[in-house]
Amino acid sequence: MTGDSTLVVGSGLIGTAIARRLARAGEPVTLVSRRPPDVPPDGHGARWAALDATDVRDCRRLLDRLRPERVVLVHGPSDVTWCEANPDEARAAHVAVADTFATLTPGSRIVMISTDNVFDGGSPRNTESTPPAPANAYGRAKLAAERALLAGAPRSVILRVSLVYGHEPADAGKWLNFFAACAHRLRRGEPVEAPDDHWTTPVLLDDVAEVTAALLRSGLAPPPLLHLGGPDRVTRAEWATAIARALGAPAELVKPVPRARTRYASRPVNACLASEVLPALPVIGDITVRGVREGARLLAPAFTATAPPAA
Ligand SMILES: NC(=O)c1ccc[n+]([C@@H]2O[C@H](COP(=O)([O-])OP(=O)(O)OC[C@H]3O[C@@H](n4cnc5c(N)ncnc54)[C@H](OP(=O)(O)O)[C@@H]3O)[C@@H](O)[C@H]2O)c1
Repeated sequence: MTGDSTLVVGSGLIGTAIARRLARAGEPVTLVSRRPPDVPPDGHGARWAALDATDVRDCRRLLDRLRPERVVLVHGPSDVTWCEANPDEARAAHVAVADTFATLTPGSRIVMISTDNVFDGGSPRNTESTPPAPANAYGRAKLAAERALLAGAPRSVILRVSLVYGHEPADAGKWLNFFAACAHRLRRGEPVEAPDDHWTTPVLLDDVAEVTAALLRSGLAPPPLLHLGGPDRVTRAEWATAIARALGAPAELVKPVPRARTRYASRPVNACLASEVLPALPVIGDITVRGVREGARLLAPAFTATAPPAA
């Protein structure tokens, strides 16, 4: 018998946002990771617990206690460069967690957040019917986990999302998303190198949380594979320029460079997602997925409200 709660596995950028979104709506949420998150999932009933999700016995103990009705798999490893250097560990971790939750929570609604890196970047537009061909070790690990989850728990939902962005505070130390890193550097008056040959469909963190919450509470089982990209297909250089404009920073600080010269060299040229299915789902209803200019306009005040971070 399951309870009326949600377990969010992974308390990083996306997991924390989803947990907060659910908790704000009054839903009981437990957020887990091996170490506590830098920013606690404050108030409204969201709480954190320690879990190594690759440890089956630990997972069984936690699930026996919580009996969650809904599970979100949004854990790492998520660092593309680390996965490239450690492909076996990356695959083993993602597949182990998928297998464990497929086996231990088959009656729960499970949503796994996956990635556009399951495509090689050859096509400017990847929909749910585009055959996957992973770009890198990270994409191979995520695709293997998608398959493991759907094989063991066919009512699960794989939500592949494009590059996710949102606010992170100036004192976070290390910013996890391109928008935040770019915005803080521009606020410091520093130049930002951004590829002009790496295309993406960035999606706002709040929109990912909103869509995930809708899929979790959907009465009817949603289709097993869904794509969520933003409506704008832009290069990172174009996106950085939009961020500079929204912040009132000089656009000349953005220095377009070739992707091969940057840390994005192993990413697909087209890291772009589009959906043939998601917008038509009744449960998605009135959710508007916002474009990069709207996203930058919405986020800019949070970045300009505080002093620029120390260099
Ligand atoms: N960010 C994006 O733009 C993006 C886009 C597409 C897909 N995704 C996918 O979304 C997921 C989350 O992304 P994110 O950006 O939120 O990542 P993140 O900020 O790196 O967070 C990952 C979280 O997973 C936890 N974790 C890692 N291994 C774990 C384990 N064995 N057991 C329990 N928790 C574990 C980490 O904490 P500990 O290390 O302390 O355990 C951390 O809290 C990833 O699977 C990624 O593939 C992200």
